[in-house]
Amino acid sequence: MKKVVLAYSGGLDTSCAVRWLKEQGYDVVCFVADLGQGLGEGEDLEAIESRALAAGASKVYIKDLQDEFVEDFVLPALKANAVYEGKYLLATALGRPLIAKYLVEIAHKEKASSVAHGCTGKGNDQVRFEVTAGILDPRLEIIAPVREWEFKSREEEIEYAHMYNIPIDVTKKKPYSIDRNIWGISIEAGVLENLEQEPPEDAYLITKSPTQISTYPKYIEIYFEKGVPKKIDGRTYKLKKLIEHLNETGGLYGVGRSDMVENRLVGIKSREIYEAPAAAILHTAHKELECLVLDRELAHFKEIISLKYSELVYYGLWYSPLKQALDGFVNATQKHVTGSIKLKLFKGNCTAVSRKSPNSLYKKELSTYGKEDKFDQKLAEGFIKLWGMPYKK
Ligand code: ARG
Repeated sequence: MKKVVLAYSGGLDTSCAVRWLKEQGYDVVCFVADLGQGLGEGEDLEAIESRALAAGASKVYIKDLQDEFVEDFVLPALKANAVYEGKYLLATALGRPLIAKYLVEIAHKEKASSVAHGCTGKGNDQVRFEVTAGILDPRLEIIAPVREWEFKSREEEIEYAHMYNIPIDVTKKKPYSIDRNIWGISIEAGVLENLEQEPPEDAYLITKSPTQISTYPKYIEIYFEKGVPKKIDGRTYKLKKLIEHLNETGGLYGVGRSDMVENRLVGIKSREIYEAPAAAILHTAHKELECLVLDRELAHFKEIISLKYSELVYYGLWYSPLKQALDGFVNATQKHVTGSIKLKLFKGNCTAVSRKSPNSLYKKELSTYGKEDKFDQKLAEGFIKLWGMPYKK
């Protein structure tokens, strides 16, 4: 019997995919990548496992990949300041290449000739899975049931699930499609497709509504060493714990929400809302620290790299030569990114209010308007003459 390893999330699409693949004659092994979707009041991984079996899987792998995810995927993207289209902190996009890596590994272990995923044919995730799997093992057959099957809507799929007793936990009333991991949550579909409508509060899962938050701000200080966040308020944390902690605190202050219409790789625009409190806090702090320690030319050039980096992540090109080369550049820029940034969390906002670093390039005696001023203003005259000379003609 042909064997396939399916990247299984426990959601509607992958649950129906188990059954559908069996109907196509496959023995279906499910792989659940634990990227932190079970943290807090998140998804129940045990329930996901039994759902896979109930849907017809012959075997289920659950792998805790949280540390690898934050160290090898989230951290490089943070160092790179990678933010897609100015708003999306890439939680879903960063998770896909890692899931694909283990999908391929398990396929080898199981001697399966195929891998499958439950992504739609209109999205980015199919691209990320397939490009990555193709790079890691071009011989594997890739099956994308959702692109092939006959259902025309989520409603029809829900009916199919009911018909075959596939346990699912969406209802027709609230059919959001949610992807969750430790770096953030992506929420789309349902009423969110109506661009003129503000997202309803119940669409958000881990952030409090900024209008319901206390009138007192919260201050937190993040310490970075060579671009890596190490401490919160003087206490050392391992990266995963640090992110968990910031998700909780940030969530309480409504930090990290975004509502955007983004450009998908496949050429359409889509509306998605995101919640990523820790990611928002860390990106703000990291960027702020770089403002202090990177010289102007490096800082400006790095912005170009950040833009490109975010595109590569979004486009599924994590394992591409360009992305590897950019990591080399980014790591070189992080040598001096050590220091502390204090942030104020207040009604959904996160702003830097104080900065310090042993590598700070801010020199008060040069910037001040006070009497300790050491800046020789007379030098400015000649500088301006030469600078402007070419344009005078
Ligand atoms: N738009 C985001 C991306 O392309 C998230 C995709 C998954 N979203 C979801 N709600 N299931 O990375």
